[in-house]
Amino acid sequence: MQEFPDRKTFVSHLECSETGRHYPADQIHNLSDAGKPLLVRYDLNALKTYLTKPMLRNRPANLWRYREFLPVRKTENIVSLGEIMTPVIRSRYLESKLGMDAVAIKDEGRLPTGSFKARGIALAVSMAKELGLTKLAIPTNGNAGAALAAYSSRAGMQSYAFCPEDTPEVNVREIAMQGAATFRVNGLINDCGKIVREGQPHMDWFDISTLKEPYRIEGKKTMGLELCEQYQWQLPDVILYPTGGGTGLIGMWKAFAELEAIGWIGSKRPRMIAVQAEGCAPIVKAFDAGDRYAALWQNASTLAAGIRVPVAIGDFLILDAVRQSQGFACSVSDEDIELTQRELASREGLLLCPEGAATVAALIQEINTGRIDKNESVLLFNCATGLKYEMPESQSHLDITHPIDYAGLVHE
Ligand SMILES: Cc1ncc(COP(=O)(O)O)c(C=O)c1O
Repeated sequence: MQEFPDRKTFVSHLECSETGRHYPADQIHNLSDAGKPLLVRYDLNALKTYLTKPMLRNRPANLWRYREFLPVRKTENIVSLGEIMTPVIRSRYLESKLGMDAVAIKDEGRLPTGSFKARGIALAVSMAKELGLTKLAIPTNGNAGAALAAYSSRAGMQSYAFCPEDTPEVNVREIAMQGAATFRVNGLINDCGKIVREGQPHMDWFDISTLKEPYRIEGKKTMGLELCEQYQWQLPDVILYPTGGGTGLIGMWKAFAELEAIGWIGSKRPRMIAVQAEGCAPIVKAFDAGDRYAALWQNASTLAAGIRVPVAIGDFLILDAVRQSQGFACSVSDEDIELTQRELASREGLLLCPEGAATVAALIQEINTGRIDKNESVLLFNCATGLKYEMPESQSHLDITHPIDYAGLVHE
């Protein structure tokens, strides 16, 4: 049985990510007065004095091993479904295909509800419990809604999920199955966000949209803490991250800054590459134009539903991190996403989600353009299990009422 020990916590305040204005911790917050995301700040000097790397070493291999870096004050408020440390799997297939030495995939599909959304939502729901909230609402392309449904049910809270019309059927069903009031909406994720925002006074729910509450990012931050530890407190040269709302990228960037502040890593950072789909690439467009904010992407369309986000409230945080890291933003076609997804599954046994496959397609593309060097060590993110997504039908049948024609069993 999973038990969590009490631990010291170090939150000092919340801070507007744009203006730097301080807000008190331990109170309910959505956006700052400037309409921007709030970031959780810690007393890093105290944390530095208290926590050591050897203290971490013998803790259970789950997200809560980083409790001192997290905002939940009271252990009894932790809402957990078993958030394991996810494996970093070396891809020898990609290494040999691309002539590289160090390509690995962090497989977030192993987490509860089958995606990395479990990290952010575990924190958001735990904090909702700590702050006495009982009704939560989310616009979702699928995975975040599934996580919210599951963690809310686990916590005995009500949840509402609003999904764009073309959200994969399995996502809509898993959200409903795990207890959320679930609605398909004939629009995109930003239209669903509007329903949540405008419904607040009528429904008295708490808006748990990406970056519109301060704690999902703290959960996603654990990807950065975890991968640092898995790389023995060194870091890969390049990280490719499939970017929709960008919480994971912003969260990892925050993790690296906090680890440097407590002296656990140096100033070297991975180059952060934001990967988007050609049919929805607002961050790429802003990056290429040298802009700090991204314009709404019209007629967004891609099979990679998780990165079909036409407008991201944390656009400037994504772009700042990408630029500060000397990285870049790039987009890949749906065709390449499908091809690489099949290639990795059939050649290496890694069944990636389309968004994860997008990072592989981007790596291949950018090795060709020379923006990524073959000598760099690279970490790709697979954000969800490939089992959630539609696969090509298997067409081969055998009739056991006739002799089997073994010579005809062709391996493609
Ligand atoms: C599988 C998958 N990959 C990537 C993303 C994008 O994540 P982020 O919002 O952190 O950019 C999502 C978000 O829905 C997702 O479900």
